[in-house]
Amino acid sequence: MNNLLRFAHHLLLLLCYLRPSSSSRYDALFNFGDSMSDTGNVQISTLPYGMTFFGNATGRCSDGRLVIDFIAQELGLPLLPPSQEDHDFRRGANFAVVAATTLAFDFFNDRDLSKGLWVNASLHLQIDRFRRLLPSICGAAQECKEFLRRSLFIVGEFGGNDYSTALFFARPVGEVSTFVPHVIDALRHGVERLIELGAVDLVVPGVLPVGCFPLYLTNYRSLDPDDYGPRTGCARRYNALSWLHNTLLRRALDQLRRKHPAVSIRYADYYSQIIDIAVDPSKYGFTDGALRTCCGGGDNIYNYDQKRRCNEKNYTVCANVSTHVNWDGIHMTEAAHRVIADGWLRGPYVDPPILSSS
Ligand SMILES: *[C@@H]1O[C@H](CO)[C@@H](O)[C@H](O)[C@H]1NC(C)=O
Ligand SMILES: *[C@@H]1O[C@H](CO)[C@@H](O)[C@H](O)[C@H]1NC(C)=O
Ligand SMILES: *[C@@H]1O[C@H](CO)[C@@H](O)[C@H](O)[C@H]1NC(C)=O
Ligand SMILES: *[C@@H]1O[C@H](CO)[C@@H](O)[C@H](O)[C@H]1NC(C)=O
Repeated sequence: MNNLLRFAHHLLLLLCYLRPSSSSRYDALFNFGDSMSDTGNVQISTLPYGMTFFGNATGRCSDGRLVIDFIAQELGLPLLPPSQEDHDFRRGANFAVVAATTLAFDFFNDRDLSKGLWVNASLHLQIDRFRRLLPSICGAAQECKEFLRRSLFIVGEFGGNDYSTALFFARPVGEVSTFVPHVIDALRHGVERLIELGAVDLVVPGVLPVGCFPLYLTNYRSLDPDDYGPRTGCARRYNALSWLHNTLLRRALDQLRRKHPAVSIRYADYYSQIIDIAVDPSKYGFTDGALRTCCGGGDNIYNYDQKRRCNEKNYTVCANVSTHVNWDGIHMTEAAHRVIADGWLRGPYVDPPILSSS
């Protein structure tokens, strides 16, 4: 009897260890990006940002947690501290900055677009900051290599702001698509810099289908029905730009994999996942659809008006955020982030899924 109990006890212990999300092989998580993943490097927001989970604005561009927050939680890691504040970064740090571009100031300045930049926080400046912080996180170079071997890197999304900076200055989509190879080169170079510093496990998200966002749908409205996807209602021309970026990005990642066979480089497919949600939002519980803003207001089907943006004059917040995909016209709700994180952690939008390797 006693032995049987002991056996049962062992079995229980074993089951605990086998529980998928209880512990992971990652000791730390490092993130680079823009407003899709900034967790407080830029503190411009106030409530209702943060209302769902934090009860306060944290700098996150959503009502609650972001994809990166759900990933940190599932990996048993703390919510990522912003790198520009004083924190203990031994379990990870977040270098993402709201409005960050992939490319640096000069690229935009050369094209007379520097007025559209809010911050100097390009991918390479974020990596510079990471490199400068490293000794304080993990010590000497060799120790850091060991430490970074057990770290997960998420590099992106990057690109959204490189394109929107020009689009918001009324540059035609055709001109903006000529930026794509430059953006992809910078991303490729950024991933290689991280590999040189010791990263061996990276997830690189593509850009989102921006043509599904109320801001784009409202500001670039068209009377031609052919300009809209028949199943989603998203603006085709803007999604085509995202598609081009993602196609070239995947090609660049293939090349990087061949060049660095010992390194895991996975693509995270925001694009397909958001399109899947937009095709049938109610399948995911989004009974208010994918194209309607929760926080804001406007006399159109997107509930969006540039003059009534969330947190500005005369905006309203929807009755139930969790039935909306879109939060403020250009960012998503916590509920949508949860669905997306699940697709990265358990598949199929990261392949192999993040949890399969943890
Ligand atoms: C909410 O955030 C503001 C600004 O960061 C801060 O001053 C305030 O103390 C916070 N309130 C709570 C309840 O955390
Ligand atoms: C970014 O840096 C450039 C110089 O490289 C400077 O001219 C510009 O004002 C900076 N922009 C911001 C928003 O800080
Ligand atoms: C706020 O929006 C409502 C609804 O569109 C409108 O009736 C009202 O006049 C607006 N108020 C202000 C101050 O803009
Ligand atoms: C909001 O919607 C969700 C999902 O449909 C539902 O479970 C929840 O009860 C709703 N909350 C409120 C306050 O209506």
